Amino acid sequence: MSKGCIFTDKDGSFTLNNANGKTGLYFPLASEKGLKSAISPTLNGDLKIDQNSFLLEPASIEDLSERRGGRNFWILRAGHTPWSVTGASVWQMAEGKEETVVNAKIMRHGISRLSSDGDISASVETFIPVDSTEEIHMVTIENTGDKPMTFEFVSAVPIYGRSADNIRDHRHVTSLLTQIYVNQRGVCVKPTLSFDERGHKLNERIYYVEGFDEFGEAPAYFYPEIAGFVGEGGNLEMPMTLLKGETGVKPGFKTAGGEAMGAFGFKACTLEPGESTVYITIVGTAESGDPEKENTLRYKNPSDVEKTLSETESYWASKQNISIHTGDENFDGFMKWVSFQPELRRLFGCSFLPHHDYGRGGKGWRDLWQDCLALLLYDPDSVKELLFNNFKGMRVDGTNATIIGDRPGEFKADRNGIPRVWMDHGVWPLMTTALYLDETDDLEFLMRETEYYRDGLVNRGRKQDRDWDGETLKLLDKEGRVYEGSLLEHLLIENLTALLDVGEHNILALRGADWNDAMDMAPDRGESVAFTHAYVGNLKTLASIMKRLYQKGIREISLLKEIGPLLDISPETEADPSKKREILDRFADSVMPAVSGDRIFADTKKLSETLTDRADRMADFLREQEWTEDSHPRFNGYYDNNGRPLERGKNKPHMTLTGQVFAIMSGVATEDEIKDITLSADALLFDEACGGYRLNTNFDEIKTDMGRMFGFAYGEKENGAVFSHMAVMYGNALFRRRFAKEGYKALYTLYKQSMDFEKSVIYPGIPEYFGKNGRGLYHYLTGAASWYVYTVVTELFGIKGEEGDLAIEPKLLKSIFDKNGKATIKLPFRNRPHEIEFVNESRLEYGEYRIRSVEVPEGFAFENRGDRAIVKYKESMAEETVKVTVVLG
Ligand code: G1P
Repeated sequence: MSKGCIFTDKDGSFTLNNANGKTGLYFPLASEKGLKSAISPTLNGDLKIDQNSFLLEPASIEDLSERRGGRNFWILRAGHTPWSVTGASVWQMAEGKEETVVNAKIMRHGISRLSSDGDISASVETFIPVDSTEEIHMVTIENTGDKPMTFEFVSAVPIYGRSADNIRDHRHVTSLLTQIYVNQRGVCVKPTLSFDERGHKLNERIYYVEGFDEFGEAPAYFYPEIAGFVGEGGNLEMPMTLLKGETGVKPGFKTAGGEAMGAFGFKACTLEPGESTVYITIVGTAESGDPEKENTLRYKNPSDVEKTLSETESYWASKQNISIHTGDENFDGFMKWVSFQPELRRLFGCSFLPHHDYGRGGKGWRDLWQDCLALLLYDPDSVKELLFNNFKGMRVDGTNATIIGDRPGEFKADRNGIPRVWMDHGVWPLMTTALYLDETDDLEFLMRETEYYRDGLVNRGRKQDRDWDGETLKLLDKEGRVYEGSLLEHLLIENLTALLDVGEHNILALRGADWNDAMDMAPDRGESVAFTHAYVGNLKTLASIMKRLYQKGIREISLLKEIGPLLDISPETEADPSKKREILDRFADSVMPAVSGDRIFADTKKLSETLTDRADRMADFLREQEWTEDSHPRFNGYYDNNGRPLERGKNKPHMTLTGQVFAIMSGVATEDEIKDITLSADALLFDEACGGYRLNTNFDEIKTDMGRMFGFAYGEKENGAVFSHMAVMYGNALFRRRFAKEGYKALYTLYKQSMDFEKSVIYPGIPEYFGKNGRGLYHYLTGAASWYVYTVVTELFGIKGEEGDLAIEPKLLKSIFDKNGKATIKLPFRNRPHEIEFVNESRLEYGEYRIRSVEVPEGFAFENRGDRAIVKYKESMAEETVKVTVVLG
């Protein structure tokens, strides 16, 4: 019986016994050069650069168990059937006696197994060198028997070598494009054309599998085609060639057409008992190259590979700069993985792992911004330019480009002109920018100027600009020059236009959807109360930014003249949806096809006041109109396409978590309301066996006037699963309002579920959601990770930038401290490593303790306000770790 993943060190390395006893496990590996791998315990999964360049056949989740074509390594011994190091062999599977042990650490995957007769112990270590497009496997074979063992080693990796689209679209025809070459070290494929019926192109890319032994010696024979390798009646888990001992071809062999196989065998090796040997297999691709020549000669022997492995490990270790110590080592290990997940989303986007079998790479607008939350905590300086470039995707009507290019600041035109607007998109940039400002106090950042994106969609996707030339992707002024406005102007436009885009209940129109992508069938009359709260929160943030600017002596900001009417909305206009729409329409018309380029100057103090007043008015309105007082008091979160409230007026109480999260986070919900909400959420949404708070109650209805989510089985994905991202944001919101016990419950249940391997069946980390029977799905690539780290750092440990200083306001519950009453967090702050230790010797609960004393390094100043301490930033801080001890009592 497996005990799940056991951490073996403080860096998150773990071991999982009997990994073959579970289905659907996968692990991510990647390089900074774009190679991305998904690897299962049987080394199934795929490997790719992008949608059009898959080295191994694309693998969706079911393929991990159903498909036979993983990376495989075989041991051939006289008198035995071929033995697979990965266990992917019909003979071993039929016998069912062997166990796969997975040993993994960040960006390094290892498996090991013992043959059922006990004679062979084998392991495969897999990694991708950080600056390469090659996946390397180091296979170690040890003679664990008591007699000398003679064997031949065969590497067998099928080469797919084409676009993922060709899985269904012309799979066979595209196999006819392959040109297969055998060089000294392996097999190389260079398809003649890259297949695309809109216009085939000559192909330059090569795909290869090469290998060498312990002494750097090349293979002795090769099987370059799947058909030849598996033989008639065979398959990749029962290769007839190996069973029958048929010899392959030699270097110099060429053929064309058919599915290629990166398979080759080495000359026989004899190991004495206790002796071991190593074989290297490299699966790679290059944009171009000579297919008849070896591609891996930079590695002469296994020690070259080991050197690269250790460089790669140091590189990724340098990226993991947040670690915690609490009374629960498992939680500390879990956090190692959660903090690495934003890096994985940076590398993978939202595609390319087995559950994420959609998209063509890249990620969406909201993901782009939210992933920066965690990345900002690690390294605000390098994220600064990423943020700056992201602003280039905003349109002057407050919407944004939705097709995000590969390079920072690159946004592509949606040439199909699909006018889909996600009404939540305007919320995220300000949230992320505010974190950057708190961390660094770099208010100057807001004054930097950049362009606006433009394409054929105008007036927030409601109209098409028929005169748009289809090429110009930057907004121009009336003189034809590219118009640039400050980042602050971009943020004001995004939020102020969204706040005018209202429906009949004076709530922001749902449009294409909000954060919940699957609320996508109420474009006419749907409204999102949930995100109206969020925008009210943003008004407050904007107001406080204006105040900070004023306090820093910046009395005026320069803005595009056309923005004027958006800045001051009177109470009468505020109360009238049609007037708001009129102002929005007039504004949208005034900025198209070009802006004036003229400027007005707005008074920061006055703006701060008007924005605050407006936020207060809207908060009152939301509490008045949307608070639902029945058996389970809560906020109504949506209106459907028939204009009816989603969570009110039904025969049983319904609730969405999203509808509560932003009411709490934005400060709209009062303390009493929060108390009620937490009780209602516990009654209607909490399901401990599934990881905590579900996204919604079961509506038992396919609401075609709301969204596709109502078509999903209840408890899956956006229909009532425990959806980690929103559950974490719920925790974050509660923490912000000092409901620490309740906030922690949301985080803790997610952690418990994730790490309960028997139920979640995932490696350490947080998945997108927990579905049927509490299983973790869509592992690794989720916005939940960024929010989890952000919440643990800034709320639970309470480490926040405050105008550039380090504010410490712990909300640590007593259960978090170790047996000595200590809890520690290590993290960078303003580019210096910090270690902050909390001492709670009497083990008091949050709410019972105050900050009694603070110890800082010599020369540092601090201020202790009881519930929070501020350590003043020092320009000349030394390189070494800044150690701070916070004594609670
Ligand atoms: C995913 C998407 C995110 C979307 C969410 C809900 O969440 O990436 O943009 O808001 O589904 O539809 P994630 O997997 O990042 O948690």
